[in-house]
Amino acid sequence: MGLSEFYGPPTEQAAAIKLLHEAIELGVQHFDTAEMYGMRSANESLLGKAFADRRDRVFIATKFGPTRDWETGMPTGIDGSRENCRRAVEGSLQRLQTDVIDLYYLHRVDPATAIEETVAAMAELVAEGKVRAIGLSEASGETIRRAAKIHPISAVQSEYSIFARDIETDVIPACLAVGASLTAYSPLGRGMLSGRFKNESLGEGDWRASNPRFQGDAYTANVALVDEIEAVASAKGCTPAQVALAWVICRGENVLTIPGTTKLENLQSNLGSYAIELGAEELATLGALADRVSGERYDERGMAAING
Ligand code: ATR
Repeated sequence: MGLSEFYGPPTEQAAAIKLLHEAIELGVQHFDTAEMYGMRSANESLLGKAFADRRDRVFIATKFGPTRDWETGMPTGIDGSRENCRRAVEGSLQRLQTDVIDLYYLHRVDPATAIEETVAAMAELVAEGKVRAIGLSEASGETIRRAAKIHPISAVQSEYSIFARDIETDVIPACLAVGASLTAYSPLGRGMLSGRFKNESLGEGDWRASNPRFQGDAYTANVALVDEIEAVASAKGCTPAQVALAWVICRGENVLTIPGTTKLENLQSNLGSYAIELGAEELATLGALADRVSGERYDERGMAAING
């Protein structure tokens, strides 16, 4: 996502493609995008271009549901109807330059469309060979269980990190019950957990400026809380970002994570987190932080769209 929008200006296309190719060479397989990432779905187009000659080496996940006015970029709602599902998938297939999407998510649950109806439409795409597996994003436990009665739900994508653990009571048990993997997004708290915001402020046009965790006193308090992750990291001789990723990775066999980056050095460093093991004491220290985080994960509009 960050290569195309939201965390500052888009990365120049040639540099973005180079990074995506380097990621493959480093062993990365799973790439996550969405219809709504980048103006006129620029992020899907980017991946399509980057992977056209190496499609067999990548696993592509994309998503539909939230709609935007492409003149202005403004969000216009969430549409989980069969009609929108069928429209969206054709655009995604075309932009991704592929005839099958490995994992297709409903990006946010549409309150006006029964989940059974949306999943039935997605199941048609599986039957037609356009999609290999179905996922939901930011869905509640109940929604996940209802959806799984219509078609197997392979993955649920939710925000999950040392600073964001609210899915543990409802969503994770539902994932385990229906056999879905949990795809943890924003495992670095949108960069916050790396400690970089101690010395760096958000650039012009950065979406995070509208996020409650990055505003005013909450921002100051959250950046200070990262000191405790830094203390764990420095005792282990690694970086706070690596600790944050190791924490997510060790949550369970069914948990995978999709950290975002625009930089090769961060990608390489992040991959190093697989070699890091956290002990009981470290896990206890890190486990106590989420309750002390200030601010909601999203603004009011964003919060209204989650856990449907
Ligand atoms: P999301 O899932 O929303 O992309 P995330 O993975 O929690 O969020 O965090 C992504 C942010 O962390 C990006 O701003 C990324 O910035 P760069 O493009 O500059 O890398 C930042 N990030 C990723 N890995 C990092 C690292 N190792 N050190 C510092 N910042 C990092």
